[in-house]
Amino acid sequence: MNSLSSDRTENLSASSSSSECQQNGGSSFSHLPLVPDPAIYAVMTAYAKDSSPLKLNLGVGVYRSEDGKPFILDVVRRAEQLLANNRSANKEYLPITGIPEFNELSAKLILGNDSPAIKENRVTTVQGVAGCGSLSLGAEFLAKHYRQTVYIPDQTYPNHPNFFTSVGLVVKTYRYYDPTTCGLDFQGLMEDLSSASPGAIVLLQACGHNPTGVDPTISQWEQIRLLMRSKGLLPFFDSAYQGLVSGDLDADAWPLRLFVADGGECLIAQSYSKNMGLYGERVGALSIVCKTAEVARKVESQQKILIRPSYSNPPIHGASIVTAILKDRDMYNEWSSNLKTMTNRLVSMRRKLVDALRDRGTAGDWSHISRQVGMYSFTGLTPDQVAFITKEYHIYLSSDGRINIAGLGSNTVPHLADAIHAAVTRGV
Ligand SMILES: Cc1ncc(COP(=O)(O)O)c(C=O)c1O
Repeated sequence: MNSLSSDRTENLSASSSSSECQQNGGSSFSHLPLVPDPAIYAVMTAYAKDSSPLKLNLGVGVYRSEDGKPFILDVVRRAEQLLANNRSANKEYLPITGIPEFNELSAKLILGNDSPAIKENRVTTVQGVAGCGSLSLGAEFLAKHYRQTVYIPDQTYPNHPNFFTSVGLVVKTYRYYDPTTCGLDFQGLMEDLSSASPGAIVLLQACGHNPTGVDPTISQWEQIRLLMRSKGLLPFFDSAYQGLVSGDLDADAWPLRLFVADGGECLIAQSYSKNMGLYGERVGALSIVCKTAEVARKVESQQKILIRPSYSNPPIHGASIVTAILKDRDMYNEWSSNLKTMTNRLVSMRRKLVDALRDRGTAGDWSHISRQVGMYSFTGLTPDQVAFITKEYHIYLSSDGRINIAGLGSNTVPHLADAIHAAVTRGV
């Protein structure tokens, strides 16, 4: 009976949509509204169309070389060479959860080689399709098995709300960025998490906060942890910049390891897009730290149920590169030292920009650019100032005033400083 009535409903809706379809020139989709591209893609498109030799892309979040060129780490090329020469490798399907060695090494990278949680088999790690795919899988898992409100920072990576709303979870924000100090609104953050519903999910960026470049201090992290654990809030860490904040992979994972050390549960989405420069290879991992090994086993079995109808099993190539680097001591050391060089360059670009603005006598205090960390700076430029800078100086950035510090070089800092100076002086 039930199935008959549901068949009838389907038929009715099919016939009404087919008559609409006839009215709309035969298309089943003509009722769809045209929606704009996400803002950052619009910035990329506008940049690509600009023919000025001065054009500068500080919008897209990728690490560039000093001369502004896309950058492939030598150690990545070396790993690819090894893979190409390995005649015994094949391209057959991976297991649903990906390359087992990749998962094991990724968990150790983020949680530490000696992590008790790993030793106690309380961590389940599955290969993900970069940071986004891992966040999305985590969101899907939560929507199915732990339907609680999700709190995300105000400001955050613009894709964050999408992962959760698209699976029907309610998303709220907690205070994070204080525009008056261009730093952390720690009091606001603690107040908002204190009044979050018990058991809620809290998205935390592990380090190198996008878009603000503002991270809590270790003592603030500790207070956040105590508060969250006392209220039973479930942490979901997004780790997209490990190694690109302090240049030290362990130091950048430290805040997150504080939460794991207390024996509580959390989710962790890892990305190798930025720290290994593997953007288009789409490599990441989702770890879920559980209370017991038995729970971890059940969680992993449920992950497989979610992955199977989605992409069935993840891609091989990028994860094989990461595995080759993580398991070889020489290559791992080379990568670690590359991260130090990359972070030093970021710190130096920040200092050069602050100095250049000081040299020009630009009104205002720009020291926050040096205090902020990681790849981004939230400059404090208004949308009008950004529009002016793009139109007059051919410099592309998102309208919230975020610049990708890694897109700057010593030769382009003066151009950006001129642009900011002009925008501020004109009072736009
Ligand atoms: C905070 C944060 N999380 C996740 C991602 C997604 O990274 P991926 O390219 O690995 O999907 C980004 C990308 O910019 C990010 O900034």
